[in-house]
Amino acid sequence: MPKVAVVYYSKSGNTQKMAELVAEGCRQVEGVEVEMVSLPGADVAAVSAADGFAIGSPDYFSYAAGHVKTFYDEALAHKNAISGKPYIAFGTHGGGAKVLDSLERLSQAIGLRQVKPGMMCLGAPGPNEADAVRALGKALAQAVAGG
Ligand SMILES: Cc1cc2nc3c(=O)[nH]c(=O)nc-3n(C[C@H](O)[C@H](O)[C@H](O)COP(=O)(O)O)c2cc1C
Repeated sequence: MPKVAVVYYSKSGNTQKMAELVAEGCRQVEGVEVEMVSLPGADVAAVSAADGFAIGSPDYFSYAAGHVKTFYDEALAHKNAISGKPYIAFGTHGGGAKVLDSLERLSQAIGLRQVKPGMMCLGAPGPNEADAVRALGKALAQAVAGG
């Protein structure tokens, strides 16, 4: 069964809530398995074998959080396994809303193919953002199922 890895770091829970909504959206597509990968501590070689990636981070100093950057640092060694696979990025922030730029640059550098523009939420996703976050996950899972 094709698999989506939802890879994220969250210290105070906002990005985790977004990751859970992304996963809910992925699960709307039949025949796609979803694995939650909370950073740090992931087996990056094993995660690289997934068929698609949703990658999320809080905005730290207008950039991805350190644990997420480290994931990309380690994933570069598995670029052959990752290259060409679909991904979406998501993030939460405190008002700056810059984190997607870094996630998209880093994802491109390891050869990932963007399915849909990413999404950011100010703090935890609100009730009127939940459907859009789920839709992002669903689009990724559809790309994985069709690929
Ligand atoms: C060390 C640190 C740096 C941060 N830097 C920024 C920033 O540059 N811009 C911004 O909008 N929010 C910044 N924030 C706020 C977080 O991005 C925001 O609270 C986020 O939703 C936290 O996600 P989490 O609950 O998943 O840990 C920072 C928070 C921390 C702890």
